[in-house]
Amino acid sequence: MKPPRKLHIKSYGCQMNVYDAQRMVDTLTGEGFVETTSADDADLVILNTCHIREKASEKVYSELGRLRAAKAEAAQNGRQMSIAVAGCVAQAEGEEIIRRAPVVDVVVGPQSYHHLPQLLARANSDGRAIETEFPLQDKFGFLPPPRPDAIRARGISSFVTVQEGCDKFCTFCVVPYTRGAEVSRPVKRIIDDVMRLADNGVREITLIGQNVNAYHGEGPDGQSWPLGKLLHRLAEIPGIVRLRYSTSHPRDVDDSLLEAHRDVPALMPFVHLPVQSGSDRILAAMNRKHTAGDYRKTIDRFRAVRQDIAFSSDFIVGFPGETEEDFSATLALVAQIGYAGAYSFKYSPRPGTPAADIKETVSAQDMDKRLVRLQELIDSQQSAFNMAAIGNTVDVLFERAARNPGQIVGRTAYLQPAHVMASPDIISQVLPVRIESLERYSLLGELAAPAHAGRPASSHMTHGA
Ligand code: SAH
Ligand code: SF4
Ligand code: F3S
Repeated sequence: MKPPRKLHIKSYGCQMNVYDAQRMVDTLTGEGFVETTSADDADLVILNTCHIREKASEKVYSELGRLRAAKAEAAQNGRQMSIAVAGCVAQAEGEEIIRRAPVVDVVVGPQSYHHLPQLLARANSDGRAIETEFPLQDKFGFLPPPRPDAIRARGISSFVTVQEGCDKFCTFCVVPYTRGAEVSRPVKRIIDDVMRLADNGVREITLIGQNVNAYHGEGPDGQSWPLGKLLHRLAEIPGIVRLRYSTSHPRDVDDSLLEAHRDVPALMPFVHLPVQSGSDRILAAMNRKHTAGDYRKTIDRFRAVRQDIAFSSDFIVGFPGETEEDFSATLALVAQIGYAGAYSFKYSPRPGTPAADIKETVSAQDMDKRLVRLQELIDSQQSAFNMAAIGNTVDVLFERAARNPGQIVGRTAYLQPAHVMASPDIISQVLPVRIESLERYSLLGELAAPAHAGRPASSHMTHGA
């Protein structure tokens, strides 16, 4: 028997890339690869790249510089190392990557990962292989049975892709170009994935998509199902105790989603709803197609159906033409909403996007200062939100042993890590925890009720679709 080849994969960017990396690992495991944690002894290194900001995009070239030395050393020892660049930089730059970094053997776009084995073979015979086509057929129809669409279970919590791509064309963003038009997977395939993951011990599913609440997959009834209806259905699958979804767009929050938050207890009351700016002038220039007022109303609609709901968001500071007044409107919006956390970024002009042509830019100093001010406000809100948990009893889904011996770590409804001293038997259970203190971003507490023996309501052998 041939010894297994070693695969090292490094992922940058969003949850979709994390999911795709797992999908690539599962595909290549079927080809006799085993994962390794070090690039240096790998036979195949895959960089799964992100193009969203210049810094993210440039990281790949510094990493390729390092890999050039590793590849040369492997060759000296009579060992072949192949290097593949996948993800959104691969899609955006294609052949240019090999021109800039000849050390690369394979360039593969996000729609073509199922072809990796063939691309590696082609690179072996031709010296290199590039595939960045958007196939015309159903993007998710590519994997023939019996190979499943979904990744295999890796613990208690799992991502499942439900839609990919984006038709929104925000003027700053590369995603519509790197991930293509919006496509939703059929309901049946998602149900099958979730049932299989649940059978393999997964208790929490996060539905992912670049615009997840634009979901409109074909239902078993032949109708187009909105995300809310899909969430209702998935909550019925035995073993699934928590559902989440990410990332949503404020414009696509419909009544079905609000009803799901009202009626589906497994749907967690924590929503990532990026707004980018609080200034209507900037929102218009970004082509977000909603105002700050619309966003506030959307938040109110969520709060009306679920009082304990909390929000996180994304912000861009220093979009071209952003004045001090525009920025103040962002601070005012943050102050008014009150977030459990948020990501904020300095605007980065991206090649090929409309905003990159706007002449009126914000100086680097102003951008830095605004970023600090915004982050201070967000940090204070996040601390207040975390502090508010102290003294309360909250449900925690336990995931794994923590670094400290005897400690088990899980997450609250709001994704806060929570640690208790307990037996590993509690892993995969949702249990009430009395929160006693906060250490940086982690909650520490004690089990509020004795753990029940064995596994929770989940060990089932049969299920109806
Ligand atoms: N689909 C999601 C997020 C996509 S990218 C949405 O519509 O909200 C994740 C975040 O990166 C965005 O929300 C935005 O805040 C940030 N981002 C995207 N393009 C950027 C750019 N050119 N410069 C700085 N930040 C950017
Ligand atoms: Fe990018 Fe806008 Fe689409 Fe989000 S909605 S992926 S920010 S174009
Ligand atoms: Fe980055 Fe592509 Fe995700 S650009 S954020 S990896 S969709």
